[in-house]
Amino acid sequence: MSAPVISLERPAVPKPASVNTRQRTGGLVVENVCKSFDLKGETLPVLDDVSFSVAPGEFVAIVGASGCGKSTLLRLLAGLDTDYEGRLLHDGTPIRGTDLHRGLVFQDHRLFPWLTVEQNVSLSFTNTEVPQAERRERVAAEIDRVGLNGFEHAYPHQLSGGMSQRAAIARALVSRPDVLLLDEPLGALDALTRLRMQQELRRLWQDEGITMVMVTHDIDEAVYLADRIVVMESRPGRIRRIQNVPIAHPRQRGKSDFVAIRDGLHADFVQIEEGLEPVTQVPERVQWDGAEWARRLAL
Ligand SMILES: Nc1ncnc2c1ncn2[C@@H]1O[C@H](COP(=O)(O)OP(=O)(O)O)[C@@H](O)[C@H]1O
Ligand SMILES: [Mg+2]
Repeated sequence: MSAPVISLERPAVPKPASVNTRQRTGGLVVENVCKSFDLKGETLPVLDDVSFSVAPGEFVAIVGASGCGKSTLLRLLAGLDTDYEGRLLHDGTPIRGTDLHRGLVFQDHRLFPWLTVEQNVSLSFTNTEVPQAERRERVAAEIDRVGLNGFEHAYPHQLSGGMSQRAAIARALVSRPDVLLLDEPLGALDALTRLRMQQELRRLWQDEGITMVMVTHDIDEAVYLADRIVVMESRPGRIRRIQNVPIAHPRQRGKSDFVAIRDGLHADFVQIEEGLEPVTQVPERVQWDGAEWARRLAL
């Protein structure tokens, strides 16, 4: 009698409901979270009593000066660091480690240079029991979603910065997370690519209904994308205030409601030079045209 054939793969999981009927999950709670590091025998307090919550499908940005603990907070939410005081919940369940329901995107794309885009995106399936056929289908769908069709077999060095970051987003999305945690995801991109990627992130968020928590030091980016902005201050990292952004999408950067919120946030970080007299006299040279400059420089 021949041995029975044992399949190591589980039967295919039923496809999730379409986007429109997607169950709204992806709520986060951060409650009285304190975190410190031991540095050469000294205790360095980094987060001090941080509390806020993120509703399912909400886009929350975290802004603050360098070193105020933004990445530390995101790492805790990701479950990459479980050594903290307080409570962190994802849909009511304590966060005790990484979870494929929380996707992660960092500033540097962290793609493996010796793997193609397709192989890099497939890495999310490592240690899962998703069948090969379904893996291929989902990888192709995510590559398509981020607009990298035709580059499936390209290596990271053959991609631009924006394309690499799109591949990193596809890798995070392929496990169908309900929360996407982004740590300065566009920080390494040039200004124009960054603007385009901001639009892409907004579309992705609106189409998929995924909860997004994005660390950025770009206030303009935060106002463009977020429903709410958590403003942090340093030493130790604390929440200074939480700013609502009640502006419909797509947002216009030049409009007064956008500018008012952006300027209000700038004021949190910059000492406004209130004491200075406004400049009323425009220097004559500002009014010179090209011909006048040429004449004066004896060109
Ligand atoms: N693994 C670590 N060990 C010791 N100190 C750390 C560690 N990670 C971060 N820090 C310190 O914690 C503070 C906050 O860092 P971080 O969360 O990276 O800030 P941000 O992302 O806001 O720039 C900094 O003072 C940093 O030096
Ligand atoms: Mg950081």
